[in-house]
Amino acid sequence: MSVTFFSAFLQLTWASSLSFPSDFKFGSATASYQVEGGWDADGKGPSIWDRYVHEFPGDIKGNATGDVAGDSYHQWREDVKAAAKMKLQFYRFSINWPRVLPTGFANEINPAGVKYYSDLIDALLAEGIEPIVTIFHWELPVKMQDLGGWTNPLIVKWFGDYARVVYTLYADRVKTWLTLNEPNTVCDYFYNSGVFATRIKESDFAPFLCNKHMMLAHATAYRIFDKEFRPKYKGKISIAPHALWIEPATPEDEALAELGRQHQLGRYSHPIYSKEGGWPPSVEKVMLEHSLQQGHTESRLPAFTEQEIEFMKGTADYYAMNQYTTYVIRPSKAGDEAGMWFLTGSPELQATLYHPEKATYGTAYILPVYPEGMRKMMSWVKQQYGDYPILITENGFSSTGSQLDDHQRVDYIKNYLEQILLAMYKDKVKVMGYTAWSLIDSFEWMDGYETKFGLYEIDYNHPNRTRTPRLSSFYYSCVIAERSLDVAESCYKKDSSKVSSDDKNEIDKKYSPPVNDEL
Ligand code: NOJ
Repeated sequence: MSVTFFSAFLQLTWASSLSFPSDFKFGSATASYQVEGGWDADGKGPSIWDRYVHEFPGDIKGNATGDVAGDSYHQWREDVKAAAKMKLQFYRFSINWPRVLPTGFANEINPAGVKYYSDLIDALLAEGIEPIVTIFHWELPVKMQDLGGWTNPLIVKWFGDYARVVYTLYADRVKTWLTLNEPNTVCDYFYNSGVFATRIKESDFAPFLCNKHMMLAHATAYRIFDKEFRPKYKGKISIAPHALWIEPATPEDEALAELGRQHQLGRYSHPIYSKEGGWPPSVEKVMLEHSLQQGHTESRLPAFTEQEIEFMKGTADYYAMNQYTTYVIRPSKAGDEAGMWFLTGSPELQATLYHPEKATYGTAYILPVYPEGMRKMMSWVKQQYGDYPILITENGFSSTGSQLDDHQRVDYIKNYLEQILLAMYKDKVKVMGYTAWSLIDSFEWMDGYETKFGLYEIDYNHPNRTRTPRLSSFYYSCVIAERSLDVAESCYKKDSSKVSSDDKNEIDKKYSPPVNDEL
């Protein structure tokens, strides 16, 4: 038992228990470009990721592409099988925009793409697994990028039209939705670093224009759902930002840390969840001052109109967050390099970011492992925005190599779930559930296939991209079966954990592809 786990364990046994309430849901997730492959199959149009990996293969580790990835476009039954074996309560996946709408625009629909997601949804439901659907996990259709992508205000309407198509097709069966995955990663990290698919490095305007348009696009998709689909189909909808917890370097830096949190997460939450709406006032002030100092005539953080503020307010039914990590903030000193938000610092905040000293690491250096940050982040959300139920939409550990005996991932899940229990029982945070990232190994963006997050390993040398359960999948299925962190090692260290061999054969039979497979 790790020290962190042990101390949290003591706090919890005193506080109440290691059990999860009956309405707490356990699931796992993937994202379309990272697992699907079939990049140009059956009428699919190109996304910026397809174009990027083909034009600049050298940018990505091992010259990897998502052309085939885990081949979920053909092997999706294996994914359902993996989810069913763990008895997941939900599976979060995303829709690849140009697979359904080849140019991105809603005037042309690709029937094969429509059928692909429809079959996946039906198979999940048949297994008693709830589909949670993300509408955008980074595959912008190239035509839209060429028109300016997320910096063009017209994308608000384009995204709304796309969302309407998706609801029309699937809202009869999908009851939990996410509009945008990690809007802050797309706007702040991608444009500030200039790597990732747009390959545009522009820190002055692009992050903030993108931020504004993503908030309005989200709100548009929410309003369409609320007005045109919810009355008939019911359902919940939210947005999933990257919730980086920011610690002050010293107690004197608490005000700066709070400004950092507003800059990182507040810009993507305040317009939706706060009572007054709009940008977080502290960030609005700093951005205006900094822009004027630079000789601009107005803030580089573009203003919202009163109408837009009202339009965005309250456009979420629950609070979704991807939570992996914690950084530390301190005021920049003379001689410090200008930082890059949200990895090394911020010129606007005159702040430097670095990793917590006591963090540990998997393979992904930018995601220091720091479980306590999970609880702090969840409690901050409650304190800022009130009692929205929180769904952790991603959390996971990165490893490399095959590592079927991934005990570090087991510890990771245990330690983070423990902090979630503390948030629930000690800080009275309402929690809907937890999503382990990721169900299977996947294309980890710039890191290609070297960095792995899967509960299931994928053999990328096998033509069928065989899926093999890791120890962590057995551990997770024990937690799900027990609905508790009080799980005996014997449960998951036995090769098949809670899945009896009869069950396994039953599931295997059900999901072997039909002989005359149409797909
Ligand atoms: C968040 C992203 O949503 C996902 O695509 C990525 O694989 C994980 N973080 C891990 O880096």
